[in-house]
Amino acid sequence: MSNNVIIFDTTLRDGEQALQASLTHREKMQIAFALERLGVDIIEAGFPVSSPGDFKSVQSIAREIKNSRIAGLARAIDKDIDAAAEALKVADAFRIHTFIATSTIHVEHKLRMSFDDVVEMAVRAVKRARNYTDDVEFSCEDAGRTPIDDLCRMVESAITAGATTVNIPDTVGYTVPSEFGGIIEALFNRVPNIDKAVISVHCHDDLGLSVANSIAAVQAGARQIECTINGLGERAGNCSLEEVVMIMNTRADQLGLTTHINSKEIHRTSTLVANLCNMPVQANKAIVGSNAFSHSSGIHQDGVLKKQDTYEIMTPETVGLSTNKLHLTSRSGRHVIRHRMEDLGYAKDDYDIEKLYENFLRLADKKGQVFDYDLEALVLFENLADEDDYYKLLSLSVQSGTDDCATATVSLQSGEDSTIEAAIGIGPVDSICKCINRITGYDVSIKDFKVASTSQGVDAMGQVNIMADWNGRSFHGMGLATDIIRSSARALIHIANDIRRSQQVNQLRNSGKE
Ligand code: KIV
Ligand code: ZN
Repeated sequence: MSNNVIIFDTTLRDGEQALQASLTHREKMQIAFALERLGVDIIEAGFPVSSPGDFKSVQSIAREIKNSRIAGLARAIDKDIDAAAEALKVADAFRIHTFIATSTIHVEHKLRMSFDDVVEMAVRAVKRARNYTDDVEFSCEDAGRTPIDDLCRMVESAITAGATTVNIPDTVGYTVPSEFGGIIEALFNRVPNIDKAVISVHCHDDLGLSVANSIAAVQAGARQIECTINGLGERAGNCSLEEVVMIMNTRADQLGLTTHINSKEIHRTSTLVANLCNMPVQANKAIVGSNAFSHSSGIHQDGVLKKQDTYEIMTPETVGLSTNKLHLTSRSGRHVIRHRMEDLGYAKDDYDIEKLYENFLRLADKKGQVFDYDLEALVLFENLADEDDYYKLLSLSVQSGTDDCATATVSLQSGEDSTIEAAIGIGPVDSICKCINRITGYDVSIKDFKVASTSQGVDAMGQVNIMADWNGRSFHGMGLATDIIRSSARALIHIANDIRRSQQVNQLRNSGKE
């Protein structure tokens, strides 16, 4: 048996389905490119039959991504499998991932079928998927609570029907590691054709055991782990990619397992996903939390200064955190910025050096010194601003004080025109929102407003995340500036541009052009 564990990332499917506001097509593409750079073997890009938007994203990802294989999810029914194949066929090779529940509680109460009929459906689905591709994954939903005799029968039947990967999900995060490892061991002992497929696991984190369960499974012979960046996913989330990968890296002595992940891309991918998904990472989260490599107690600091591995089991550099002390100021030239970006893992075509340098100089004039995390934030936000953005901020002025109301004047470029509006609101952000609503004609209402600093100190840049409703749909906007009022305006303009794009997609669909 190979020592390599296949990393199957489902951030764009299981992770995305748990977000308050769906990711835009462009955001999904950004995440897919980051996952490819990270080196994941399989990217589950979505559930094509679930919506035209998901279909289109899976199709674009399958077309653009070359170094990771793309998978699409499908229930064990014909129309799902056909839709997945239709979306994926633009790729040279692809995977169809089909599933049906196997636990007694799901079979009896959700599916209301006999177990015999469920096996028949699964076999039919796998065979249908095999007509489109020779890479078919079958998942036994709620396998963690499935009687072992039933599970063995289902796994054997799926492999006989042509499944090349069989996935054992702990869908509700119920099992404990010894039990879950035991299930995998039982499958290896009892299923006669088990060596004809890769055994995969997909663990949820309801009891905080998804990573431990996945590790127990690979110790018992599983060779694919399904996981997500920052552990995003349904309810308490899925097994976190960065944690399982760094366990296998750091404890190779115990586990003897490898992956194709380039761990130096972990930090950057985690930050991108946290920002685009509006799901900040807790400070003390393993591997990617902001405190994961900082030492607070005097005894620990003293130890690390004397010898790093007294209190560090892995270095920050292995996950792409730089400890570079080079000072970047307004006197730094383009080549220094390019060099820093290269050290941070960015290729030349990941960003536009002219735009980055212009923004860098503006920031350096304000802050004096610019840090790595500032550069990364500038690139992320520069990439967010699309060339085809219809609305752009021209000018903004706000007056607020101890009185109950604030006044804003906002001027926006709207396509070829520029429009100016003034409004009174209960605070500066409310008054800006009213101005933008008047200009765009969208009646956007803010549901959640969060401000965070992207770095430290009084001169840190302020990142604003806004969740807003329009026409019964949730939208997420982000803005970054050294002034949080300007960040708020940018976040609201980001939302207005996304609303406009979603309207255009709907218009095209209604006129039958898509
Ligand atoms: O949790 C689960 O069982 C799933 C399957 C569709 C693999 O997400
Ligand atoms: Zn799941």
